[in-house]
Amino acid sequence: MTQVSEPLDLSTDKTLDRDCTTLSRHVLQQLQSFGPDAQDLSALMNRIALAGKLIARHFSRAGLMEDVLGFTGDVNVQGESVKKMDVYANEVFISVFKQSGLVCRLASEEMEKPYYIPENCPIGRYTLLYDPIDGSSNTDINLSLGSIFSIRQQEGTDLDGEAKDLLNHGRKQLAAGYILYGPSTMLVYSIGKGVHFFTLDPSLGEFILTEENVKIPDHGAVYSVNEGNFWQWDESYREYIRYVHRTEGYTARYSGAMVSDIHRTLVQGGVFLYPGTLKKPEGKLRLLYESAPLAFLIEQAGGRATTGTEEILDVVPKQLHQRTPLIIGSKEDVAKVESFLKKND
Ligand code: AHG
Ligand code: MN
Ligand code: MN
Repeated sequence: MTQVSEPLDLSTDKTLDRDCTTLSRHVLQQLQSFGPDAQDLSALMNRIALAGKLIARHFSRAGLMEDVLGFTGDVNVQGESVKKMDVYANEVFISVFKQSGLVCRLASEEMEKPYYIPENCPIGRYTLLYDPIDGSSNTDINLSLGSIFSIRQQEGTDLDGEAKDLLNHGRKQLAAGYILYGPSTMLVYSIGKGVHFFTLDPSLGEFILTEENVKIPDHGAVYSVNEGNFWQWDESYREYIRYVHRTEGYTARYSGAMVSDIHRTLVQGGVFLYPGTLKKPEGKLRLLYESAPLAFLIEQAGGRATTGTEEILDVVPKQLHQRTPLIIGSKEDVAKVESFLKKND
C-alpha cells in the first residue's frame, strides 16, 4: 500500500517568512526618499554588493581553479607581498564601478594613487575607498576574509589628481561597511542611520536583510589582538593584557582578518586592538579604508574606536595610505584599555 506522506511543514523554512528586503530597497527606505542622492547611494550599495558576490563566487571555487591562490611575486605600496586574490578583488571593484557611472575615483590598499574614471566624473562625484581583501593571509587556507568599503563625496575639482580632499576626517564618510566571506557571505553597512546586516542567499543571488539596527553590547569579555607582538608594544598595552590574563572570564579570539574579528565584536561585544609597536608607532592598519570605515560602523552601533589619544573618526590623515593604531569595540572595553594608557602617560 502506498504511504500518503505528511504535508511539508514550510514553517521551518525561515526564508519564506521574510519579506526579502534587498539592499537597494533598504537604502531607499532608510533615506525615505527617491531623490537623486538617495538613488545614487542605493545604486552605489548595489554595485558594492555585486563586487561582493563576484569575489565570494571566486573564493568558493578558488581551490578548483588554476592560478587563483598564492602570491603574484609583487610587493604593494605598503611593502606587503601581493596575493593573486588581492589583485583579482581590486580589479573587480574597478570594473564594477567603471560601469556604474557614479564613481569618479577609487582608492585602495593595492593602488599607490587613486584610480580615475574620467568618463564618470561629470556626474559621479563620489569616491570609493576600499580594502579589496582584508585578512589576505587567510586566502590560501580557506578561512574567513573580508572586503572593507567607504564612500565619500568628492570635494573640489581635484585636477592635479592628488585627491587632497580625501585627507579629511572620517565623519565625512557618507556610507561605510564590510563584506564578510565566511560560512555565509554577509554585507554589513551604515549610511549614518544604524548598522544593518544582510546575508547572501546564493540561490537568489541577492543580499537579504537579516538584522536591522544592530547594537554592540556595552561590554564583552573577549579581547582580540596579536599577542605575538607583546614585547614590541608600549608597556601600557602589556599592562592591559596582564589585567585580562588575571581577570576571570576573559577569553582571546584573533582570526587574522579584522573584518571577522570586528563582526564578532559587533555581535558579542569586546575589544579589538592593533597597537603601534616600538619600530612602527603608527601600527599596521590604514586609516582611510580600514580603521575609519569600521569606526563609522562601530560608532553607529553604539561602540567606540580610538587611536589611544584621539577618536578614529576625528583623525585627519596627511597621506592616503596613512596608518593609525586602533582600539575598537564595546564602550566599556575601549575605556578599560584607555585607562591603562592614561595610567602610564
Ligand atoms: P590586509 O590583509 O588587508 O593587509 O589586512 C590584514 C590586517 C587585518 O585584517 C588583521 O587583523 C591584521 O592585519 C593581521 O595582522 P597580523 O598578522 O600582524 O596580526
Ligand atoms: Mn586589511
Ligand atoms: Mn587588504
